[in-house]
Amino acid sequence: MPLSRYGPRSRHGTGGNPAEVCPVRPRGRRFRWIVALALGAAAAVWPSLALANPPRPNWNPGPPPAPLFPRTSEMHQISDLFWVMLILSGIIFIGVCAAIVISMVRFSGKPGDPEPRQVFGNRRVELLWTAIPSVILVVAFVFTVRAIRDINSAHGSSFNIYAIGHQWWWEFQYPSLKIVTANELHVPTGQQIHFHVESWDVIHSFWAPQLQRQIDANPKQDNAVYAEYNIPGVYGGACYEYCGPAHAWMKFEVVVQTPAQFAAWVKHEQKPAATPHGATAAGLKVFLNNTCVNCHAILGTGAGGAVGPNLTHFSSRWTIGAGAAPMTRQALVQWIRDPSSFKPGALMPPYKFLSNKDVNALADYLMSLK
Ligand code: CUA
Repeated sequence: MPLSRYGPRSRHGTGGNPAEVCPVRPRGRRFRWIVALALGAAAAVWPSLALANPPRPNWNPGPPPAPLFPRTSEMHQISDLFWVMLILSGIIFIGVCAAIVISMVRFSGKPGDPEPRQVFGNRRVELLWTAIPSVILVVAFVFTVRAIRDINSAHGSSFNIYAIGHQWWWEFQYPSLKIVTANELHVPTGQQIHFHVESWDVIHSFWAPQLQRQIDANPKQDNAVYAEYNIPGVYGGACYEYCGPAHAWMKFEVVVQTPAQFAAWVKHEQKPAATPHGATAAGLKVFLNNTCVNCHAILGTGAGGAVGPNLTHFSSRWTIGAGAAPMTRQALVQWIRDPSSFKPGALMPPYKFLSNKDVNALADYLMSLK
């Protein structure tokens, strides 16, 4: 057998007895694998078992759809970029796989074959495999720069909305309309929106995958996103940067409305909370006499806390706890007693010390805040 310059080799790499290289797996090792897999499965299932008790409200909003279904021209640009990259990578992937398979089938050695001819340096091949990736990168670069140029440019006057991330909910402010709301963003069609994305505490990330690109919400920094929404509908959004234990329940809805529908929403939102009567008046008293007022504001009641969501039109929203539960009285009662029971880590303290009567009155009052 001819020797290469790297010394003697065999098809088994180190030479010698093949049984030494590929020993038969002893039975004890298989048992250890089974135990490890069982432990792994138990560790994976454990968190969901822990969450199952106490039971979650019956609710699964699901993740917002990935940017495969764009609904704005900005997201169409990003989606196109995604497809260009996917096709380029797909061609490379298929080419590499084909080359591997062809090499395996055509050039596999058989026992007793002589050492193949060794190749050191081939200018033509090296030029080719430098040129092809360069062309691919240039194509990807041109498409990317074109998308960057198009998607975040302001044109004309835009409507200002502040999107402020908090642990773990979103505050939406409309300074020109004097509206502050939470977890439900209403926007009119046919107008460019300038989102001022900020954070109250840690770094969050603001993203409605079908509508606009992702952008970080940083403390003390005004990050701009420009977007124009033209297809009315309700779209999912969420925080996309891990920001603490309740990160997964930092969702929001984007309600894209025609200008007339939006104007009606604005008119409704600007009104102070309805004055409670009868039983619900007792709920307002519970609210004002407890620490609720330190964190929450309700327009027209004197409560002006800014740490938690503004509750002026609380029950007109679709969810409780930034997507953690649907807006039902039952879920609200569970939330007041112990928010962490279905949103682990929620910063609102449990109000277990309140009597059943007080909790029910408070829930009735909050559900009346349409
Ligand atoms: Cu906020 Cu993740």
